[in-house]
Amino acid sequence: MAAPVTERTDTPWGDTVLVEFDEGIAWVSLNRPAKRNAMNPALNDEMVATLDALEADPRCRALVLTGAGEAFSAGMDLKEYFREVDESGDPAVQIRVRRASAEWQWKRLANWSKPTIAMVNGWCFGGAFTPLVACDLAISAEDAQYGLSEINWGIPPGGVVSRALAATVPQRDALYFIMTGEPFDGRRAAEMRLVNEAVPAERLRERTRELAAKLAAMNPAVLRAAKVGYKLAQEMPWEQAEDYLYAKLEQSQFLDASHGREKGMTQFLDDKTYRPGLGAYSSDA
Ligand code: COA
Repeated sequence: MAAPVTERTDTPWGDTVLVEFDEGIAWVSLNRPAKRNAMNPALNDEMVATLDALEADPRCRALVLTGAGEAFSAGMDLKEYFREVDESGDPAVQIRVRRASAEWQWKRLANWSKPTIAMVNGWCFGGAFTPLVACDLAISAEDAQYGLSEINWGIPPGGVVSRALAATVPQRDALYFIMTGEPFDGRRAAEMRLVNEAVPAERLRERTRELAAKLAAMNPAVLRAAKVGYKLAQEMPWEQAEDYLYAKLEQSQFLDASHGREKGMTQFLDDKTYRPGLGAYSSDA
């Protein structure tokens, strides 16, 4: 007789990461407020496991990444991620902690299967730029404070921070802030397109929720093909990109059990019930 399947009731988050579910949105908070959500090895491990768990969790159709308390994240933990790893003197420890950091901050997050929004509620420094840029979209509080502060304490930006900047902001802005280490606010972050928009702090959660709810209601197979297709095609020569994006289109039709394309075509061409340029087809029809 087969052994009974024990349903896991525990979750990988709970110590340094918090997750709340709200109508298809998973609000994921980096949760070390007393340390301004500095990312230590424990938090990095917990985020890897959290992203894996949420990828399979039907309560999450869109993910919002934010920080508990007054910070988004003060970047890598200078004590636990740098000093204590140096003091261990063990190269294997450094390899392990760097790998876990990269795993969630960009490798998993950048091509995550569901839509992601960074909600920058406060301090955002150094290493925190990596998950910020890896999220598909970003909304900031106008008064959130950002900084590429590495140069202020004696290192150039590490990991893929500079690479992430190059993918989002113009070179003049990137080099200005990398080289001066001066802080800037959410308005400036929006101006240089590091984030999509900056809103007053009291509207931050409401505006982020509105956007996340919109994405959570969209056809997930098509959304996934659209975002991953965009991100990966950027690195390809045009001919490869064309072939890959057609393959992505066909893959999404194959995987879309709700047959969105047929519904959209019928509703526009035959029923004349909507305009695709102005909104989404009705998935109920
Ligand atoms: N690594 C480790 N600990 C950090 C940290 C980091 N990146 N950022 C903040 N902390 C800790 C502080 O050491 C302090 O710990 P303590 O209470 O045990 O002394 C606690 O978090 C609160 O920090 P504090 O500086 O008192 O808070 P603040 O609100 O006055 O200032 C910041 C907030 C973010 C401006 C400031 O903490 C800071 O500059 N942090 C470093 C930012 C940085 O350079 N990050 C880049 C890392 S790649």
